Amino acid sequence: MTSVAVGAERSNESKIASIQGYIERAIEDLLASLRNPKELSAEERRGIIARYAAVLEGNFIYWMTGAYISVRSDEARAKIMDNLREEVRDCHPGMMRRFAIAAHAIPTDADAQAVYRNLMSVRLFIGRLSAVPILVTMAFFEGFIQRFMSYLAELAQRQGSAEMEYTDVHGVCDVTHTQELFRALEAEMVLAHPLPEKDMFEGVELLRTLIQSMVVNKRSMNTRRGSHVSQGNGDLGDSADYGGRQEESASSDR
Ligand SMILES: [Fe+2]
Repeated sequence: MTSVAVGAERSNESKIASIQGYIERAIEDLLASLRNPKELSAEERRGIIARYAAVLEGNFIYWMTGAYISVRSDEARAKIMDNLREEVRDCHPGMMRRFAIAAHAIPTDADAQAVYRNLMSVRLFIGRLSAVPILVTMAFFEGFIQRFMSYLAELAQRQGSAEMEYTDVHGVCDVTHTQELFRALEAEMVLAHPLPEKDMFEGVELLRTLIQSMVVNKRSMNTRRGSHVSQGNGDLGDSADYGGRQEESASSDR
């Protein structure tokens, strides 16, 4: 390896470390913003599970497919394909649906409407098929999901459910998935032009805003508005409308 190549590799390693740090902070912020399940009403618990299902069931494979289409390296393609194969072979959308059914939290039109705008922003971002920012976003998402599973499981248990396959599987397998996405990111960064930070983390911030609209409801949005700590454009004031426009159903988003 030439000294130039060694230098480029070291530079990418330090960029990956800084991306990991950014993602870790974003995940910690989100987890810290979650309300104690003991303090949630049954409807608030149901709403979080239902909005999570409304987003995950119909979009995760689509977003990961966007990652697959956008990458150029064989290594990244192979890692993303492993992830997609597992999603389809083990029917993760079906697992998600069983989890929601057992917790009496099947998404309603109002749940779909609550995440509609922020979900659309993430879809359009994925549609630009820019490999590095998509991989950063999906690494953030996998990392968040893995850490969120115990909370989601507790909500479901408090809803009287004993169906925990979804949370059991994703609390474990997403650890590996996150690591593999970082390896895919390393491979892709070798091929990509350097990006300004704003572009690198655009998807993370859009997804963070979407997750906030999944896990935060109107009541907690109001109480948190003054104290929320955000690193980017995760402004809850610009997130979903939870109450008044339920008739504008977004059922196609499920
Ligand atoms: Fe999955």
